[in-house]
Amino acid sequence: MEQTIWTEKYRPKDFNEVLGQDGIVNRVEAFVKTGSMPHLLFTGPAGVGKTSLSLVVARQMFGNAWHSNFLELNASDERGIDIIRNKVKDFARTRAIGDVPFKIIYLDECDALTREAQQALRRTMENYTQTCRFILSANYSSKIIDPIQSRCAIFRFKPLPKEDILRLIQKICKNEGVQIDDNAMEALQIVSGGDCRRVENILQSAAAISDKIDEEVIYSLSSVARPKEVKEVLELALNNKFIDAREKLLDVMLNYGLSGLDIIKQIQREIYNVELDGRKKMRLVEKCGEAEFRMTEGSDEFVQLEAFLANVALIGTS
Ligand SMILES: Nc1ncnc2c1ncn2[C@@H]1O[C@H](COP(=O)(O)OP(=O)(O)OP(=O)(O)O)[C@@H](O)[C@H]1O
Ligand SMILES: [Mg+2]
Repeated sequence: MEQTIWTEKYRPKDFNEVLGQDGIVNRVEAFVKTGSMPHLLFTGPAGVGKTSLSLVVARQMFGNAWHSNFLELNASDERGIDIIRNKVKDFARTRAIGDVPFKIIYLDECDALTREAQQALRRTMENYTQTCRFILSANYSSKIIDPIQSRCAIFRFKPLPKEDILRLIQKICKNEGVQIDDNAMEALQIVSGGDCRRVENILQSAAAISDKIDEEVIYSLSSVARPKEVKEVLELALNNKFIDAREKLLDVMLNYGLSGLDIIKQIQREIYNVELDGRKKMRLVEKCGEAEFRMTEGSDEFVQLEAFLANVALIGTS
């Protein structure tokens, strides 16, 4: 088995390899073609192409010399904004290699910066606008201060739609010579939540186990229970079979290695799939919220899960 990490092996090298994110890729490509680009702010969830698209920009703008003209920093790694400012200063001070209009600084996880640090970043961006463009990346744009947002063209990345995730799975499996059945593809698409990195990591682990991947393998590797089994737990409880529901729940958690928080989030999603009148569903959703909150606050997960199941049974029989 080969040792490269698939998330790197399958990182897009060109604009046309970036899946999904339609409007965004075209607009960013247009900046590169004209050789003029504002500062950019990429927002969105994990594993949807923010870092990848920035690297494509650098490759396309700078060709072989892209390494020398591209600086990647992580706002949450580096201790404090001062370190970032010094690194930016050092990088911006040296002239760009080759005939390029500016260098690019990619700053990941900007929403980890405090408001004060963001103010400092804003001044840094202004000071080096002559020589550098910033691409900022964050999960949520609402955590970025307005003065920075207004200096950037903002691009909101989305989880990848089903067709694109399936395309990615097919491409990798074909290339790696692994077989995957339709149910497993469907399962992988569901557990990925539109995150390509998650797809690639699960696929690589699955392929290491077997060259014929089925649904079972996908669920066992992904810390996600089969939706069917979670639904069963809910249905047992709703039918007042509390003890059976409790047993099934523990079983599912053990089998898939799930924490209380993992499972309560899955239960929450399954509520919408059970046969039940709307008001009762709303009460279940409310109870889920309570249990989830208490668990994140550190309350014992088994106590909370049992209390939740008791509530489900009470609601089911009310
Ligand atoms: N839109 C995409 N098209 C094709 N592959 C993708 C896409 N998005 C992500 N990938 C794959 O997932 C890996 C991780 O993606 P990337 O580093 O771009 O995520 P990100 O959006 O920056 O996430 P994070 O917020 O966690 O930093 C890439 O190396 C690539 O293999
Ligand atoms: Mg990234």
